Amino acid sequence: MKRISIGEIELNVVEQGTGAPLLLVHGFPLDHQMWKGQLDDLSKDFRVIAPDLRGFGQSDCHGETVLMEQFADDLANLLAALGVDEPITLCGLSMGGYVAWEFWRRHEARLQRLILCDTRAAPDTDEVAATRRKTADQVLREGPEVLVENMIPKLFTPRSQVEMRHVIATTSQIIQSSRPEGLAAALRGMARRRDATPWLPEIKIPSLVLCGQQDVISSVVEMQSIADAIPNASFVVIPACGHMAPLESPTQTNKAIREFLATPHQASNAKD
Ligand code: MLT
Repeated sequence: MKRISIGEIELNVVEQGTGAPLLLVHGFPLDHQMWKGQLDDLSKDFRVIAPDLRGFGQSDCHGETVLMEQFADDLANLLAALGVDEPITLCGLSMGGYVAWEFWRRHEARLQRLILCDTRAAPDTDEVAATRRKTADQVLREGPEVLVENMIPKLFTPRSQVEMRHVIATTSQIIQSSRPEGLAAALRGMARRRDATPWLPEIKIPSLVLCGQQDVISSVVEMQSIADAIPNASFVVIPACGHMAPLESPTQTNKAIREFLATPHQASNAKD
């Protein structure tokens, strides 16, 4: 693990392996540790870069609202600081997917492929955005524990909650040790995220859309429609998993990622 300065703040990042760069962008309210099942395996063949986003894990916290655009710019600055010049594969889960849309929008030249795990392209409704802002205030008042109760049942299938005690305990611990300011800033940022739906037909790079079969946050139906709207996308459902497919079934997730990355890259002009 190392700390990398990206200007006004430092980010904590794990960098492992050599080869084509694969940037793993975690979801909310987690950090790079959610990629535990990917790091050792995928770094055998790829240069895996797994940062803690601004305000999460051991990265610096800055700003009362952090927009997805800011997270995307932080990642571009991180790649520059790490000397990654070649186009990358960005794999983002849920909030990491919201960041991926903005990364594509703002830093397209840095992208070769996209992997969208358990995410959404649509923005929050007014009602959902209002609830997020209330949750942000609640987290600041009462601490991150409130998110453990709220989120764990939505992140994992009922079966995983029973059978994967260790994973549930570690995930709860990650949430509990998060800084309230970082969580609140991301909640406010997610509430203001832009609608990526109109962008999907413009995404011409190879993309993999990956969804846990029992995901209750980003459903299979919704993710199938994302895959249908991206011209060069394939869609993989990970059986018996919820929102946290990479943690619930690393083997199947890594297989899908490896197969996708093994297919030859077809250069295409994104503005065709
Ligand atoms: C996540 O896993 O990043 C969150 O579920 C995203 C969200 O709250 O919309």
